[in-house]
Amino acid sequence: MSDFGLIGVSKEIQAVRSIIAQVAPSDISVLIHGESGSGKEVVARAIHHQSFRRNHQIVSINCAAIPEGIFESELFGHKKGSFTNASENRKGYFEMANGGTLFLDEIADMPLLMQVKLLRAIETREFMPVGADTVSKTDIRIIAATNKNLENEVANKRFREDFYYRLKSVIIDLPPLRKRKDDIPLLIKHFLDEYEESNKVNGYRFTDRVMEIFMEYNWPGNVRELRSVVRTAVAMSRSSLISEEVLAGLIKLEKKQDSRFLPVSTGKTSEEMERDFLLRALFEIKRDILEIQRLLEEMRNQKHEAVQQSRNGGGVITIQEAERDAIVTALRTSGGNKRKAAKLLNISPRTLYRKIEEYHIDEELWTA
Ligand SMILES: Nc1ncnc2c1ncn2[C@@H]1O[C@H](COP(=O)(O)OP(=O)(O)O)[C@@H](O)[C@H]1O
Ligand SMILES: [Mg+2]
Repeated sequence: MSDFGLIGVSKEIQAVRSIIAQVAPSDISVLIHGESGSGKEVVARAIHHQSFRRNHQIVSINCAAIPEGIFESELFGHKKGSFTNASENRKGYFEMANGGTLFLDEIADMPLLMQVKLLRAIETREFMPVGADTVSKTDIRIIAATNKNLENEVANKRFREDFYYRLKSVIIDLPPLRKRKDDIPLLIKHFLDEYEESNKVNGYRFTDRVMEIFMEYNWPGNVRELRSVVRTAVAMSRSSLISEEVLAGLIKLEKKQDSRFLPVSTGKTSEEMERDFLLRALFEIKRDILEIQRLLEEMRNQKHEAVQQSRNGGGVITIQEAERDAIVTALRTSGGNKRKAAKLLNISPRTLYRKIEEYHIDEELWTA
């Protein structure tokens, strides 16, 4: 049995299916909870495809993969020039999902400040692109997913309560595969068919012993792991009847690491998304570097002031020292340009040159 890609015959999956059918036609927010690989994204897509929004996009983003600093512009977009290197207007996921569904995967990893902004946007159906001075309208449905216990996250102040209440009106709990083993044979058949179709081969099947092992195994990586084991086993098997030798090293292995996905939206290839993502991460790094430069500059100036104040004990300095310091400061400010420095000091360039000689102000004082 399969509905919009959601395969399974277990009573657990049947129950999930009936909740999907119930909530799909409305705009109500849905929170999907389940272990990694259990099929949360499959459920989100099934809801979207059974809703009246099905002719628009479902945009899927992974909240854990977006650096905090660019979250807002990723979600709401930005206007040209709103920050360094924002050389063009950029659509955010909100705009891309307009009329459709926004799937927020790993929602527990959304920064708190972003939760506030997102909640406001959902409630007012309006948002402001970064650097814009007018609001944009939006019409999206939110589906969120997490493998964490959001109630705990709220209790530990890592997740906003008001946002949680907004999301939790419908919660779909997706049981791990080991708790619904009835689904395993059908899923295996599905993944075999899928592999054969894309590789233009056919006739593969597993021995009874292998099927037994599959039914006994506890699938810590859930359906994702099952799919990967099936595909690898077919690829490695020399015969179309796949026996247990092939499983050595595939199963009973330590739990495979769950690869984190980059934000993926339909309409762009994952390579394009990956490139965009890296580019934007680089912009972030550049911004951080500029900020560090600014902080260093600030520290340097503070040190300079401290030196000035420590001279002559009680903070009193001579007119000559004050003049000398004023000149050094002006030269620093002008980046060593003496005409500019003279202007800042309200003296002629000639006077400045003379005083530089007189006070023995050498270049390293203003470039230091
Ligand atoms: N019930 C299901 N029917 C068909 N394929 C499934 C099912 N559950 C999971 N999958 C497949 O398993 C993989 C992981 O599913 P996904 O929805 O990404 O899991 P999650 O988001 O919970 O980590 C995907 O390849 C998906 O197509
Ligand atoms: Mg997922």
